[in-house]
Amino acid sequence: MVQTFYITTPIYYVNAEPHIGHAYTTIVADALARFYRLLGYDTRFQTGTDEHGEKVVEAARAAGLSVQDFVDRVSGKFRQTWDQMQISYDHFLRTTSPEHIRVVQEILQRVHEAGDIYFSEYGGLYCYGCERFILERELVDGKCPDHQVAPIFIKEANYFFRMSSYQDWLIDYIAQHPDWIRPERYRNEVLAFLKEPLEDLCISRPQARLKWGIPLPFDERYVTYVWFDALINYVSGLGYPDQPLYQQYWPSGQHLIAKDILKPHGIYWPTMLKAAGIDPYQHLNVHGYWQMDQGKMSKSLGNVVEPLDLIERYGLDQVRYFFLREMVFGLDAQFSEEALIGRINADLANDLGNLFARTVAMVFKYRQGVVPPPGAAQPRDLEVENTAVQVAQDFLDLIPKLEFHKALMRLWELIGLTNRYIVASEPWRLFKQPEQQSRLDTVLYHLLEVLRYVTVLLKPIMPASAEKMSEQLGLGSALWDRPLPELIHWGQLPMGSAVQKGVALFPRLEVIATFPPTTGSGPEKSKLPAFKSEIDLSTFKLIDLRVGKIVAAEKIPKSEKLLKLQVDVGEIRQVVAGIGRSYRPEDLIGQTIILVANLKPARLMGIESQGMVLAAEGTDGLYLLTTDPEVPPGRPVS
Ligand code: MSP
Repeated sequence: MVQTFYITTPIYYVNAEPHIGHAYTTIVADALARFYRLLGYDTRFQTGTDEHGEKVVEAARAAGLSVQDFVDRVSGKFRQTWDQMQISYDHFLRTTSPEHIRVVQEILQRVHEAGDIYFSEYGGLYCYGCERFILERELVDGKCPDHQVAPIFIKEANYFFRMSSYQDWLIDYIAQHPDWIRPERYRNEVLAFLKEPLEDLCISRPQARLKWGIPLPFDERYVTYVWFDALINYVSGLGYPDQPLYQQYWPSGQHLIAKDILKPHGIYWPTMLKAAGIDPYQHLNVHGYWQMDQGKMSKSLGNVVEPLDLIERYGLDQVRYFFLREMVFGLDAQFSEEALIGRINADLANDLGNLFARTVAMVFKYRQGVVPPPGAAQPRDLEVENTAVQVAQDFLDLIPKLEFHKALMRLWELIGLTNRYIVASEPWRLFKQPEQQSRLDTVLYHLLEVLRYVTVLLKPIMPASAEKMSEQLGLGSALWDRPLPELIHWGQLPMGSAVQKGVALFPRLEVIATFPPTTGSGPEKSKLPAFKSEIDLSTFKLIDLRVGKIVAAEKIPKSEKLLKLQVDVGEIRQVVAGIGRSYRPEDLIGQTIILVANLKPARLMGIESQGMVLAAEGTDGLYLLTTDPEVPPGRPVS
């Protein structure tokens, strides 16, 4: 039987336009949906907009539009944004649509009939920002912590959902399903909420106060509270209770949210489902917040980043890669364009882009673009092969757990190893030796087969780039004709097929700092040093400067400043470089640098250094000198 997978994003409020926070969640959902489709699952991906409530009415007023026109406009903006970002959603749900309204009313009716909704007078502190009654103990200095406003005491008759009667059931359910809410920190957070007695949930607002909502089917004087309305989107979009889609997908339903809406999803929603007699969702996947340098992203701080703007400037796949690689799912992450550029240049342009370009170029240069038959594998080839197989397996294990950053780190370990494999195997030397031609075939085949693995695995992460990569490997979109698990067996790349030349996959971004310093605690902006005394040309010519390529880099324990590098200058040199405050080792691999190759070896912190790399002293750190375009290792610099 075909397995199913149903993934949802939150439905976004229409009182703000899409920003990168929304884009992140939507990209994660998209990557998951694409991953499961590749696995061969029958997959459904739903997103949409949350369009009722007081705040929407206010925003419409501020925009000078009727509420309907306003929600149409902003909802349309979300949809267009996702379309332009090629988000592969199957359904875009609007809470103002008849399909949704019908289901909300149906569930209200059911829960009411079951006796879990009652009418009562209630006086309490009401936060207009949250659109809910707020408890004394939730206040910080007398104010709502989210809105920084003191709530107002109001007294009114309303409908309440008997949430309290499901508290024990919920605690029990969480205990029996340890990874239901994940990562664990959020499960613990929900359990911490549940340590206090749960209050019943006020689920109505008098029409006299708010008209823009779904009327209660059993009392037209009231509309539904926005959360009771919004959460139901996850089943209304499937045509609950009687549409086949609901039977088909709900049993595999998983939600994706950020930590801001943990309580409604971890407490209100499961108790609502229980009361309505609907099975719980399979997983609640909770991620952290993207923070800007100045703290939280907000309109008032003027630091909102628009996704389309970012994509236009850096490329869709580049942004997708950055999001998925940079944020540890569950934790907050810092957003900066410097970090984005750093990842694009280091991981994509250098590591992956170069590996691809070099390999394809070698296959053309040495084998007229035809995939050669591999000969007997040597230990070095087997290392690459086994790593590819293991990394692919890890990738398949990590993505369903939402550990994108780890999956990508593993994949880049393979890419790094393969770049070093080129250096160590020296195909350019093999080419010149007639008796080494089968060896050269083996090396080229291994390189191409690794690239096939990388391409296969990157499809859900960078769909368009993976297509281009597959084109260059001569495989086209037929590469994904079979389910993913069948594609990660070594040796499937057909021999004799033709690779294609293509444009650079990930052009380097030319910015002042091409691979930016991480901490920038270098020399302060200060006076320039005086020029040194003159030397003649013959003295200068004593210095043997060479182009080098960094093939390995690691921190030296107990030193913040020193890194141990292995540099290919036609031979491998070990160099201790004082650039540790400006560069992370992992960003250096594959970098072209300039080496003083005839400096007398010296020992630094007990480690031999056979040369010195050249770097410019910027005002905020060191910047390695490089060549543009790339020049092969060992070439002299004059
Ligand atoms: N309408 C409700 C959700 C109802 S779901 C039944 C809502 N909407 S929202 O527009 O405020 O979206 C909140 C969601 O947007 C977060 O849970 C998260 O998915 C995403 N993000 C908004 N800002 C974010 C960051 N700064 N960082 C990461 N994700 C963020 O809440």
